[in-house]
Amino acid sequence: MSVTLQAFLRDFAGSDPQKQAVAAAVERIAEAGIAIADLVAQGPLADHFAKIMGDEANAGGDAQKELDVISEEVIIAKLKQAPVAFLGSEESETPIPLNDVGSLVVAVDPLDGSSNIDTNVSVGTIYSILPYSAAQFPDPVDALKQKGSAQLAAGFLIYGPSTVLVSTLGAGTQVFALDRASGDFILAKAAVEIPAQTKEYGVNQSNMRHWDTPMRAYIDDCLAGKDGPRAKDFNMRWVGSMVADAFRIFTRGGVYLYTGDKRKGYEQGRLRLIYEANPVAFITEQANGAATDGKTRILDIQPEKLHQRIPLVFGSKDEVAKIASYY
Ligand code: AHG
Ligand code: MN
Ligand code: MN
Repeated sequence: MSVTLQAFLRDFAGSDPQKQAVAAAVERIAEAGIAIADLVAQGPLADHFAKIMGDEANAGGDAQKELDVISEEVIIAKLKQAPVAFLGSEESETPIPLNDVGSLVVAVDPLDGSSNIDTNVSVGTIYSILPYSAAQFPDPVDALKQKGSAQLAAGFLIYGPSTVLVSTLGAGTQVFALDRASGDFILAKAAVEIPAQTKEYGVNQSNMRHWDTPMRAYIDDCLAGKDGPRAKDFNMRWVGSMVADAFRIFTRGGVYLYTGDKRKGYEQGRLRLIYEANPVAFITEQANGAATDGKTRILDIQPEKLHQRIPLVFGSKDEVAKIASYY
């Protein structure tokens, strides 16, 4: 019998008010995802497709596309119907107030991979759900700056050949696939297990000359293959859309690397800690994988700024440990 996301969340929440709040937020995000999937699927036929907004850069400093902003609006409208007090978003400098009362804050990357959207690769929505109380956090930025280990739930939607939700509620990682006929997300994998070992890495190798020494040494050793110190041949895959690279890793293992490099603005890599690295680290750990900045477990890092970047390595846990050993 197929299990819907709704039923799964109802089971998870029981009569616990905070869990019910989390369940409501996840359900609204999934609904937003269905609407965003439809927008993305219109592709080049839509006016909004791949259009860049004036000379605007978003809060993270990237070119902002119309679809980034529309996706954020869809999420805001949906999360106003859940007990969420504030939304932190890649597309907005400061937290967006949603509800006067709410026991949660949510952080999102409304459309990850949007810089490549015109090439028809999979893009997605990443979310992180944290506890909130006005008494504890007079400034909502501080609520969003909780460590990743405080997350109550996290996940991402990926708009690819199929629309899929990868979710953790803190007890394993589940995959739900959208059934277009019923409009329901259906449980497709109850417990994702990332293989501990891998021979596949994902990195933007064009940046090699900018890398720091440990990163360069690790990739050199992979490239040396069977005859090198790793004594095995590696394969390389890089979509350039983190949700797509992450979904591959959740499916068959692998590691994703975007560490800091010498380019201006890339000293801390490219990915944002609060709404990219933390949620991905949480779902990765719940799927038996690992995530680090090279030295520290991602979920243990104390965020300093809402839009701060962080070097990110995640995936198969033995390989992540190997990479950390180079650092
Ligand atoms: P976003 O589209 O939200 O800015 O994120 C893009 C990120 C990530 O999805 C991807 O893995 C990485 O940037 C690609 O960076 P490069 O273009 O530097 O390879
Ligand atoms: Mn992104
Ligand atoms: Mn984005």
